[in-house]
Amino acid sequence: MSLPVPHPDARAVVTGASHGIGEALASELAARGHNLIITSRREELLNDLAGRLTDRHNVTVEVRPADLADAAQRAELRDELATRNISVLCANAGAATIGPVAQLDAAGERALVQLNAAGVHDLVLAVLPGMLERRSGGILMSGSTAGNAPIPNNATYAATKAFVNSFSESLHHEVRGSGVHVTLLAPGPVRTFTVESVDEATSSRLVPDYLWVSGEHAAKAALDGLARNKTRVVPGGPAKIMSLTNQYAPRRISVPIIGRVYGQLAGL
Ligand SMILES: NC(=O)c1ccc[n+]([C@@H]2O[C@H](COP(=O)([O-])OP(=O)(O)OC[C@H]3O[C@@H](n4cnc5c(N)ncnc54)[C@H](OP(=O)(O)O)[C@@H]3O)[C@@H](O)[C@H]2O)c1
Repeated sequence: MSLPVPHPDARAVVTGASHGIGEALASELAARGHNLIITSRREELLNDLAGRLTDRHNVTVEVRPADLADAAQRAELRDELATRNISVLCANAGAATIGPVAQLDAAGERALVQLNAAGVHDLVLAVLPGMLERRSGGILMSGSTAGNAPIPNNATYAATKAFVNSFSESLHHEVRGSGVHVTLLAPGPVRTFTVESVDEATSSRLVPDYLWVSGEHAAKAALDGLARNKTRVVPGGPAKIMSLTNQYAPRRISVPIIGRVYGQLAGL
């Protein structure tokens, strides 16, 4: 079992490619010979990345700036992808807010649902029929260990990641044997995330060093897992243990504890 073989007409798509895990996914796919479509809001960063990957790996990289929280911009990208030969989709773009929902900006929370949940669902639905028809394709969705159980003070993020975790694992089983691989990337802490209200010193103090992995490590593990059609990839040994613990610990006990940690992250 492997990823689809790179073909001049085929494209691997990476959302959230301007930074972090998405940038590392795009770099790893280019190194493996895949031509790309990369997307996020910041066009200059995407153009820089496209130039570097083309120079280094001699691949074609198409840049599609889009705000995936915006339904009209998302529809434009979705409609294009539905007509293209998409070999791999990494539905990775995502963001988080921290703090009690009642104190957060309501418009921002609605946008988070659009980006983290609809932004994944829409694009997967766009590429899936073509992949099934070709009996070949790979879909990687970036969920999170944060989607394993409720998280007070991170409620919208955790709920959107629960959606992605569940959707990805359900689809994995639905299309098993079709030639289309579906893998969930559900990391613990990765040293890439930008949450506007949380400074690095606070997250380093509250999250032990051994739990962190790099974006490059997460991306490589994710694509290796997708090649093997793994249901779920959790990069890093300690993060795997944390993930199992928060999936199976009694919620009555674990949810208030984790909520307090996120409260501290929010400066409460
Ligand atoms: N890092 C972690 O600890 C961690 C843990 C578990 C799960 N994850 C998940 O892994 C994925 C990647 O995380 P990361 O750490 O790489 O995050 P990151 O470094 O903050 O990068 C997020 C990416 O998403 C894009 N993005 C943000 N808002 C967008 C919007 N409205 N429309 C389109 N693109 C948007 C950003 O680009 P622009 O700003 O240019 O739009 C950027 O390329 C996310 O889904 C995240 O939830 C991360």
